[in-house]
Amino acid sequence: MIREANIYDIPRINELGSLLNDNFSKVNNIKEMLEDGYSKVIVYEKDDKIVGFISATCLYETCDILSLVVDPDYRKKMIASNLISYLISDMGENLKLVTLEVKSHNIPAIRLYEKFGFEIIHRRDKYYKDDDAYLMARKSE
Ligand SMILES: CC(C)(COP(=O)(O)OP(=O)(O)OC[C@H]1O[C@@H](n2cnc3c(N)ncnc32)[C@H](O)[C@@H]1OP(=O)(O)O)[C@@H](O)C(=O)NCCC(=O)NCCS
Repeated sequence: MIREANIYDIPRINELGSLLNDNFSKVNNIKEMLEDGYSKVIVYEKDDKIVGFISATCLYETCDILSLVVDPDYRKKMIASNLISYLISDMGENLKLVTLEVKSHNIPAIRLYEKFGFEIIHRRDKYYKDDDAYLMARKSE
């Protein structure tokens, strides 16, 4: 089941987020995102637990995906794909541009985003302490 996150989901979201970044809960204030009125935090539930989430900041006709993580035991089951589809359809026709940053060596994520029509539009050298970043964008008419 896919749904909007609520405050009770925050500990599990932070736990999954720590797979992405050791400081996840310090640099991503999920509680604030749930309350600010322009951020989206969407979770995927399976087997009575949250096994993936996506977070994004959406302003006017654009969304910036901040985090996307799937529990390692549940990968390659289209969960990330379903989360991206949900976010895009939830924003509706108004959505014209989706952007994100991804480590240049993160092949699973880059392949996933390419499947959704994202293109690499810029490389930020040494953006991460251990990698360069690709800025990817998906435009719709
Ligand atoms: C990247 C990630 C979110 C993908 O989640 P997922 O639920 O396994 O992805 P899906 O099952 O929806 O995969 C859809 C497509 O993505 C690509 N993909 C996913 N995992 C892949 C892998 N290990 N190797 C290559 N391509 C992969 C494939 O194109 C796949 O389509 P296919 O199954 O027809 O080949 C997951 O691996 C993850 O949480 N990684 C760690 C966190 C991360 O890197 N997040 C992205 C940060 S920007």
